[in-house]
Amino acid sequence: MAMISQAFFLAIIFFILVQLQASPSPAIQALVAPITKDTKTGLHTLSISNKNYLLDLSGQLLWSPCSPSHPTVPCSSGECAAASGAHKSCNNGGRACTARPTNPVTGERAVGDLTLADIVANATDGKTLTSEVTVRGVVSSCAPGSLLRSLPAMAAGDAGLGRGGVSLPTQLYSKLSLKRQFAVCLPSTAAAPGVAFFGGGPYNLMPPTLFDASTVLSYTDLARSPTNPSAYSIKLRGIAMNQEAVHLPPGALSRGGGVTLDTAAPYTVLRRDVYRPFVAAFAKATARITRMPSVAPFELCFNSSALGFTRVGYAVAPIDLVTSGGRNWTVFGSNSLAQVAGDTACLAFVDGGRAARSAVTVGAFQMENNFLLFDEAASRLGFSGTLFFIRTTCGNFNFARN
Ligand SMILES: *[C@@H]1O[C@H](CO)[C@@H](O)[C@H](O)[C@H]1NC(C)=O
Ligand SMILES: *[C@@H]1O[C@H](CO)[C@@H](O)[C@H](O)[C@H]1NC(C)=O
Ligand SMILES: *[C@@H]1O[C@H](CO)[C@@H](O)[C@H](O)[C@H]1NC(C)=O
Repeated sequence: MAMISQAFFLAIIFFILVQLQASPSPAIQALVAPITKDTKTGLHTLSISNKNYLLDLSGQLLWSPCSPSHPTVPCSSGECAAASGAHKSCNNGGRACTARPTNPVTGERAVGDLTLADIVANATDGKTLTSEVTVRGVVSSCAPGSLLRSLPAMAAGDAGLGRGGVSLPTQLYSKLSLKRQFAVCLPSTAAAPGVAFFGGGPYNLMPPTLFDASTVLSYTDLARSPTNPSAYSIKLRGIAMNQEAVHLPPGALSRGGGVTLDTAAPYTVLRRDVYRPFVAAFAKATARITRMPSVAPFELCFNSSALGFTRVGYAVAPIDLVTSGGRNWTVFGSNSLAQVAGDTACLAFVDGGRAARSAVTVGAFQMENNFLLFDEAASRLGFSGTLFFIRTTCGNFNFARN
C-alpha cells in the first residue's frame, strides 16, 4: 500500500514537472527603460539594449548609424509598408526600402535603409525588473553619423515614440502583445534616472510609500496635430496664472499645429501671439520680485535669492493649462523657472516666433518630475502634475533586479 502511494506521489510530481516545462513563457506586462538627463542640452535619452537614444516623443522612427553589413528590408514587405508615414521609398530594384530619418533638434533630414535588429530591454511587473527580454526583428532606420549633430553626446541615435506604423511603441505593442500605452517620467537631474514603461501598469514609484503613479493621473483627450501628424497633441481651453485667465487672441491655442508635446524641445516653445501675453501676465504676477538681466534663450529673469521656496519649487504664480475636459495641468515653480546661475532663475518658456509650428510645444523641462501616460488604446493623455506634491520624483523607480 505504502509502495503504491509513493509511486503515485512520484507520478504526480513528474506530471507537474512536465507541465511546468511545457507551459509557454508568461505574458509580458510591460517593458521598462531608464531615462537620463543630459544637462548640457537639457534633453533626455532612453536606454535600449544598453545604448542611449534621444527620447523623441514625436519621432516616427528608431534610427542610428548602421554597420556596413546591415540587413535591408524588401520593398514588398509588411515592414516597408508600415513605414509609409516615414517618407519611405524604394531603391535597388525593390530590394531595399529606405526611410527619411529626421534629427528633431536641427530639423535636418537624411535618407537611410530600413533595417531589422534585435533589441534588449527589461520586463517589469511594475514594481521591480523581472527578466531581460529580446525583441526580435525591430524595424529601424540607418542614418549617416552626421545626423547625430546637436543631440546629447551620449546618444547613439533617436528613439521615435510618436504615432506611426514603425515607431518604437507601436512595434513593441504588436510584437509583445502589450497593452497599447506607454508612460514617461523625465528626471530633472543627471543624478538618478527617470523611467519609461511600455505596456500596462502598475507603475510603482518608491518612497515615501510605494504607490502606483497611474492612480494619481488626470486625463485629457489625445488629438492629432494638423501640422505634425506623428506628434501627440492635446486641446487647451486656455491658460491661467494665479487663477486669472491669460488674454490670448481668440482661437490662438487651436490655430496652426495646436498644442503638442515634444521632448526634442528642452523648454516649452510658444508661438509669438501666445508668448507675448503669456510673458506679460507672468511679469504682472511677479511684479514685486527683483529682476535680473535676461539670459538667452529666456527673457524674464529673477533674483532667485529673493524668491520664496516651497516643496514645488520657487514660490511664483502657478500656471494652469486648462485642458479640454476641464482638468488643469498646473505648472509650479519647479517646472516654470529654470536656474541659470547662482542667483538667477528665468521663466523657462521660449519665443517660437510668428511661424512656430504649434501654438504651444510643451517641452522637456515642463515635463520633468511629471508622470505622463500616453494611453493610445483610449486615445487619452494621463498627467500627474508635479510629483513633488506627493513627495516623490521620476528618479524613484526601483531598477534593481527582483
Ligand atoms: C536589465 O537590468 C539589469 C539589472 O538592473 C541591468 O544590469 C541590465 O543592464 C538591464 N538590461 C538592459 C537591456 O537594460
Ligand atoms: C482650472 O484652472 C482655472 C484657471 O485657474 C480655474 O478657474 C478652474 O477652477 C480650475 N479647474 C479645476 C478643476 O481645478
Ligand atoms: C538678490 O536678493 C538677495 C536677497 O534678497 C539680496 O541680498 C541681493 O542683494 C539681491 N541681488 C541683486 C543683484 O539684486
